Amino acid sequence: ARVAVIVPAAGSGVRLGEDSPKAFVDLGGSTILERCVSGIIDAGIDAFVVVVVPAGLIARTRQLLPGVTVVEGGAHRSESVRAGLEACAGADVILVHDAARPLTPPEVFGRVVDAVLAGHEAVVPGLPVVDTLKRVLPGADAESVAETVDREPLRAVATPQGFTRAALLRAHADDAGLATDDAGLAERCGIEVAVVPGDPLGFKITTQWDLRIARMLVS
Ligand code: CTP
Ligand code: MG
Repeated sequence: ARVAVIVPAAGSGVRLGEDSPKAFVDLGGSTILERCVSGIIDAGIDAFVVVVVPAGLIARTRQLLPGVTVVEGGAHRSESVRAGLEACAGADVILVHDAARPLTPPEVFGRVVDAVLAGHEAVVPGLPVVDTLKRVLPGADAESVAETVDREPLRAVATPQGFTRAALLRAHADDAGLATDDAGLAERCGIEVAVVPGDPLGFKITTQWDLRIARMLVS
């Protein structure tokens, strides 16, 4: 099967709060985006890689990543994924992997691709939730707890998320614009989503705390 990986890297990284967009922030001597793409290549899934970046960074990205297809992203993550999708014409299996998860181990890519090849239309890596979860209600001076949520059946889901080409196209065909991941769009059109084991190293760099951890891990 021909495998493609779309790497959404067109966000601005508001929660990280650095001067440059998140994917272009340094992580141990190269950008988060370069580290992420190296991880995909090292995973050995022999994939065609499409990187989606902000309009003003296309030329810079082509310099950083020679041989990788680079396209312009949109205002929302799902628009960026659709821009990447247009560049994946020949692929039967398509993974979507956030640039912001540059330390994802090779095995996770392998598990996701294998599960799609085994017949699952949509596959996500998931981890059990370790914290005690409480649903809260707003309050005047402090939120109050409405209930403790049973965490046992919950999974924290990451990327790469893998799809058959048909499933990903269908998922993105009528997007309301609110989903935070591609599997969420797939679920809404009735596609069954399989969960394979994720890995803690697949965490997303969202805040300064995450960037600190990532920099410690690569140093
Ligand atoms: N992304 C994208 N296009 C967008 C928004 C997000 O390609 N319009 C990408 C980001 O670059 C990132 C991934 O989607 O690799 C996950 O999004 P997130 O962690 O939310 O990154 P940002 O949107 O950049 O961060 P923030 O929400 O804090 O601004
Ligand atoms: Mg965002």
